[in-house]
Amino acid sequence: MSKEIDFIKKRRSVRKFRKLPVTDEQVTRLLEAAMAAPSAVAKDPWRFIVVRRPEHLRTIAGFLPNGGFLPDADVGIIVCGDLDAAHSNSLSYLLQDCSAAIENLLLAASALDLGACWLGVHPREDRIENISKFCKLPENIIPVAVIAIGVPAIAPDPRTRYNPAYVRSEKWQ
Ligand SMILES: Cc1cc2nc3c(=O)[nH]c(=O)nc-3n(C[C@H](O)[C@H](O)[C@H](O)COP(=O)(O)O)c2cc1C
Repeated sequence: MSKEIDFIKKRRSVRKFRKLPVTDEQVTRLLEAAMAAPSAVAKDPWRFIVVRRPEHLRTIAGFLPNGGFLPDADVGIIVCGDLDAAHSNSLSYLLQDCSAAIENLLLAASALDLGACWLGVHPREDRIENISKFCKLPENIIPVAVIAIGVPAIAPDPRTRYNPAYVRSEKWQ
């Protein structure tokens, strides 16, 4: 165990929240962390929609079969990518860049003692379509995930799922 990287193991998905606010200042800190992520050729194709209205969170939750708890969160952040901005206009680069930003955001939430959970959108066509329609996304803006954020009501144990069987040396065989 290394103390220096324990903060990574502390990040766990939180799906139960207290009825307490996440401040705009905290949201800005999370977005600063997200936008500190690596990005292919520093194209920064990530775009973020901050959703606070309970009726909007309820509607979006209805699009996410595994995101029914989203309205219990104080904030939802829809992470999108701009295909026109991504390196080589590539969906793969867009998804990799957005995923790096999401992980930074989740680590920052944990560091601020907030609870957060990644709710998958991409590549599920129905979720992409519903969110795009509801949020009036232009064609070039691709929704990747929704992040539920709130004051946590639970504190899952820190952990890694380290498995030496997943690691090989030098070549596959
Ligand atoms: C691409 C992706 C999609 C996910 N979608 C959901 C989801 O829709 N609902 C949910 O509750 N958790 C979702 N998760 C969170 C995972 O379930 C969670 O990260 C995993 O069980 C490991 O647990 P941990 O985050 O506590 O380490 C998603 C995670 C990823 C990376």
